[in-house]
Parts: sequence; C-alpha cells; structure tokens
Amino acid sequence: MKECRGRNLFFSTDLDKEIEEADVIFISVNTPTKTKGIGAGSAANIKNCELCARHIAKVATSSKIVVEKSTVPVRTAEAINRILTANEKQPNVTFQVLSNPEFLAEGTAMSDLMKPDRVLIGGSQTPEGLKAIETVVSVYANWVPREQILTTNLWSSELSKLVANAFLAQRVSSINSISALCEVTGADVTEISRAVGMDDRIGKRFLQPSVGFGGSCFQKDILNLVYLCETYGLQPCADYWRQVIAMNDFQKKRFSEEIVSAMFNTVTGKKIAILGYAFKKDTGDVRETPSMFIVRDLLEENAKIHVYDPQVTREDMWSEMSYTCGVNHDNTPKLDEYVTTCDDPYEACKGAHAVCIMTEWDEFKTYDYKKIYDNMQKPAFLFDGRLLLNHKELREIGFEVHAIGKPDPIKFPGSAIA
Ligand code: UDX
Repeated sequence: MKECRGRNLFFSTDLDKEIEEADVIFISVNTPTKTKGIGAGSAANIKNCELCARHIAKVATSSKIVVEKSTVPVRTAEAINRILTANEKQPNVTFQVLSNPEFLAEGTAMSDLMKPDRVLIGGSQTPEGLKAIETVVSVYANWVPREQILTTNLWSSELSKLVANAFLAQRVSSINSISALCEVTGADVTEISRAVGMDDRIGKRFLQPSVGFGGSCFQKDILNLVYLCETYGLQPCADYWRQVIAMNDFQKKRFSEEIVSAMFNTVTGKKIAILGYAFKKDTGDVRETPSMFIVRDLLEENAKIHVYDPQVTREDMWSEMSYTCGVNHDNTPKLDEYVTTCDDPYEACKGAHAVCIMTEWDEFKTYDYKKIYDNMQKPAFLFDGRLLLNHKELREIGFEVHAIGKPDPIKFPGSAIA
C-alpha cells in the first residue's frame, strides 16, 4: 500500500466528490445476518448496500458503473438498480449494476488478490451491460490472465459467491462428520482425508478436520442461501444446506463434551489452558471462532480458563463473546475471575489440568511440551482440536491426548500413528 499510495491509490472521506469523479464505484460494505425482524437469524441485511445506492444516485451527475463487491443475496442487483434509477438526479445519467464478488481469504488476502483462482464479473447481458462488464474486465486484466476472468449474467455471479462458500464449508463439515465416526471405529481421519483427497475428482484441499469452522463468512453465507431457498419454497434444498451448520455446531459441542467427560465428568474449578482464539491462524479475527464456543461451554461448567493467542486482543474476545454468545461482564458476574488472558503460553499452561489446541498457529508446534507437562497437574490432558501436534511424542512425555478423529490407542491398539 505504501508503494502505491499517492500514485494510483488514494484515500478520502470526501464521499460526494469521489462519487462525482468516479467512472466505476465498488460497493464494499458489510451485509451481516439480520438479528431482528423477518428472516432474523438467516437473511442478510443489505441496508448498507441500499444506503450506498441512494447516496450515489443523489450525488451523481454523470453515468456510473456500480459494482457489488459485498456478498449479497441473489437478485440484490435488481434492488440496487431500481433504487439508482428511481433516484437519479438527471435524466441523462445512467447506471449499470455489476456483480464482482470477493473470494479472498483472511491471512492470505494479498496473494489471493495478486494471484486469484478466478475473477468473476456478472452483468446484464444487454449491449450496455456487456460494455460495462468489459470496462471492469479491463481493470483486472492489468494483472490477471484473461482466461481467469469469468463473465456471467448478474444472478449467476451473485449466487456463485454464496455457493462457493457453502461448498467449502460443506467439505469441512463432511470431514468433521467422519472424524466422529473415526473416533468410535478405530479409523484415523487424517488417513481417510489423504485417501479420499488423492482422488482428483474430490481434491485435497479443505479436508482438514477441525473443532469446527469459524470466520465471518461461512455460516453467514450458508444461512443466506438457506433463506433464499426457503423464500423460493425450496424447503428440501434449505434443509440440505442447514445441515452443514448443524454438523458444525455438533462438532463444537462434541469437543466441549469430550473435555468434560475425559476429565472425570467435572472441570469445575480446574484450570484449562486454551491455546488459540482466532478462527484460523495468521489472523486476529475472532468472528464465529470455534474457540469462543468451547470457552463458553467450559465457563458454564465453572472451569478456570486461561487463554493465549498470539494476535487476538482481550477487547475483541469479549466483544465477540457478547455479540454472538450473549455472555458479557454485565450479565455474568466474576467473568474476569473465570477467564484470564495471558501473554505467555507457558504461563497459560502452568498448573493447568488440560491444554486445548484451538487454532493451528505454527508457533504451537515449536513449544517445549516436556516443560509444559512438568508444570501441569496430573494426569495432564491435551485436547488437539486442529490435529496440529505429534501425539505419539506427547504420549511419550506423559500426556493423555484426545484429538479430533483420532482413535484412542488404548481402546484401539495398533491404530495410532503420530
Ligand atoms: C472464506 C473463503 O475461503 C473465502 O474464499 C471467502 O472470500 C471468505 O470466506 P476465510 O473465512 O478467511 O475465507 O477462511 P477459510 O480459510 O476459508 O477458513 C474458514 C474456516 O474453516 C476456518 O475456521 C478454518 O479453520 C476452517 N477450515 C478450513 C477447516 O476447519 N478445515 C479446512 O480444511 C479448511
């Protein structure tokens, strides 16, 4: 950004002037799940997109291409288009609404931007629409090969974004459902994932079992898809996709239950170290993070929780906990006494009965687990929610290891690999 700033990247708060001067305007505002009213809990709130459209129409004195970058329900472009045309200032001003969904992921945003798998641009298949599409294609063509720039009609582009995220989340839920089966049959989920993923038709990626998926997109976009299916009377389709979320909830719950049951059915008053709070590594984002649900469940059991994460701030942890789980300092007395945040992982684990690996941070692999073990209560439990560590080595140190999709070596002798 430093390299480009002042050259071809400018920041401004003068909204009206920038709208006036622009040929192409990207609407990149958030579209959170509605918390109240019709569709609460599943429909996306496109209020911010609508406000942008109204403002553009109010200010623009020349024709514009308006691009939806935000993830929106299919047919939002129709609403944007109607708002723009109904409010245009001058009769000679025209608007072309395009859809250009964002596929970048957190932690890899820059490489996703520079080397995207594909860029998708949807627009009306009229001569004016096709001309607008070509304008936006020519912007991306500066660094993305033409064959990777897909152009479609508006509705396909809007819907593709929701479908892409739903498919990715579905793969995680699919492998997580198998992880539960592995634990009771003696199969090993890593081996299953490898065996299945080597089939080219299935592919290797997004088959990493975990304590559950998190982040600001997967759940929100699936709920949005579910709501769309319901709106169009397609209940079986809605039920199908809702199951991806139900499986994710089951996986998170299963993990908390495993912690409590392994630790002699009580964690009351026991210190438990939570390593990792971000929803994935290399980000400080905690939205919908699975770690939060485990902390909430352990809190209900009156455990003493010590959280360490290399990037997450205490403020973010509490604000997301309050927003998503409704647990905060006002309604939960002694919250600070029960949940402590630590700057040092060894401090978080000192005197603990259990260590839980909740995010796949690389640094967790480099810790001195012998030192951690020596300073813990015995038996020393380790719950690996990301299959990050070498369980054989941990068992040799003395840990009692429980890991997603890994059979218990005592119950299933001869099943354990690393
Ligand atoms: C996602 C999409 O990947 C991206 O294309 C879209 O634009 C935004 O949503 P993001 O939420 O940043 O990106 O993270 P992603 O890497 O997709 O991971 C989402 C969640 O799934 C994380 O909690 C991650 O830990 C989990 N996950 C991912 C697994 O549990 N197993 C996997 O194999 C992959």
